[in-house]
Amino acid sequence: MQKLISRPPRGSNEPAEQQLSEAELLALEANYCSHGDTVHYTNPPKIFERADGSFLYDADGKEYLDLQMWYSAVNFGYRNERLNAAVRRQLDRLPQVASQYLHREKIELAAILARDAQQKFGSKGRVHFNVGGSQAIEDSLKLVRNFKQGKSLMFAFEGGYHGRTLGASAITSSYRYRRRYGHFGDRAHFIPFPYHFRGPKGMSKEEYGHHCVKQFERLFESEYNGVWDPKVGEAEYAAFYVEPIQGTGGYVIPPKNFFVELKRVLDAHGILLVVDEIQMGFYRTGKLWSIEHFGVKPDAIVFGKAITNGLNPLAGVWAREELINPTIFPPGSTHSTFNANPMGTAVALEAMKMMRETDYEKMVMDKGAYLLEGLEELKRRYPIVGDVDGLGMALRLEICEPHDSFTPSKAIVDRMVDEGLKGDIEVDGKSYGLVLDIGGYHKNVVTLAPSLHISKSEMDLSLQLLDRVLYRVSKE
Ligand SMILES: Cc1ncc(COP(=O)(O)O)c(C=O)c1O
Repeated sequence: MQKLISRPPRGSNEPAEQQLSEAELLALEANYCSHGDTVHYTNPPKIFERADGSFLYDADGKEYLDLQMWYSAVNFGYRNERLNAAVRRQLDRLPQVASQYLHREKIELAAILARDAQQKFGSKGRVHFNVGGSQAIEDSLKLVRNFKQGKSLMFAFEGGYHGRTLGASAITSSYRYRRRYGHFGDRAHFIPFPYHFRGPKGMSKEEYGHHCVKQFERLFESEYNGVWDPKVGEAEYAAFYVEPIQGTGGYVIPPKNFFVELKRVLDAHGILLVVDEIQMGFYRTGKLWSIEHFGVKPDAIVFGKAITNGLNPLAGVWAREELINPTIFPPGSTHSTFNANPMGTAVALEAMKMMRETDYEKMVMDKGAYLLEGLEELKRRYPIVGDVDGLGMALRLEICEPHDSFTPSKAIVDRMVDEGLKGDIEVDGKSYGLVLDIGGYHKNVVTLAPSLHISKSEMDLSLQLLDRVLYRVSKE
């Protein structure tokens, strides 16, 4: 008889003969799983069995400190007791209900998010739910295109990432994600982001931010620059999609003056500001929304990932009333069976309550500063570390060739990821693995998104493990 069920968790009483070995699972995966739905395939792909707090565990019980937390979807730690309990409560009460009906969790969650945005940005608005980040981006595109009477062109940033559905790919800078799928007539106009480390030499961070805005503003100087009709005062572009801190782009942090200056140009030309907080939202940077660091008011905010701590998927859009009121955006404008699902909204509601009861801002800024100090120390010791930076607990380690600490080295970062997954790094007589994520324009940045609940000793362990991994790859 074929064994087709997976290995039971350690300590389970299920019979041993039902367990598939890791080799058997990998053989099945090679044959039956699409590889099109995954990224950064390590060879062989790693299988995890269990998670807790800041750690993942493999079938042998080996412990891996996770410094990426499912691309920042698990901000509040694996198996967070309070959030898992909310899931269990909902499971026992109202786990399913068709989205044409209402349930209290959806309504309360929308009200919390909308009131918070009104208090912070001064605009009454509403919240619209969907399942994943890309789908919420699609919904935001509909909101913008509808409000701007069919204008379908957007500005977005070089190095920006908004998802891989067709509409989200059109405003994501990498052509790689579009190459095989035909013509994208509504492909965004991609504008340089103030990535200071790789910007022109001799400019301060602020000067470079100002320079980038000036370059963008040039587009509106004359009708011959391609985007603006001065006779009627109308732009061909409806909105600018921004990640305040670039996520997949390598946790690039712009200067403080940048968004204020950019918004002035957008306001002068009737272009909406849509902020993608899918990766940086929910206190990753020390604020509920990372845009709060930059003193501008968005027209729409798109969120996802950590709102449920990576449990039942939920994403959504907050938009100003003018864009989203039921007259302009009536029932059926978008719909998806699972959009405001009770399990997702219940855990998100509990997560929002938790965020309001705890001083995440202070906690995240303090822990982030501690980690950044440790990373700076590593930069001083390892020439392959070209740049480190961080805002709250979104931290970056840019890996470069040792001869100039500047030429990007994807190969060294790939080796770091592989070394981490070996699970054999000794610290105080115990073996650990390290889970790292790769980002960046040159795929040479370790993007660090630890659990916001990481303890002081786990932060020290993170720095020790990074030290050991950097040592190994520097020696080769
Ligand atoms: C900034 C940003 N926008 C959009 C997305 C797409 O979200 P999802 O992967 O849930 O579709 C991501 C995912 O990584 C993201 O980081």
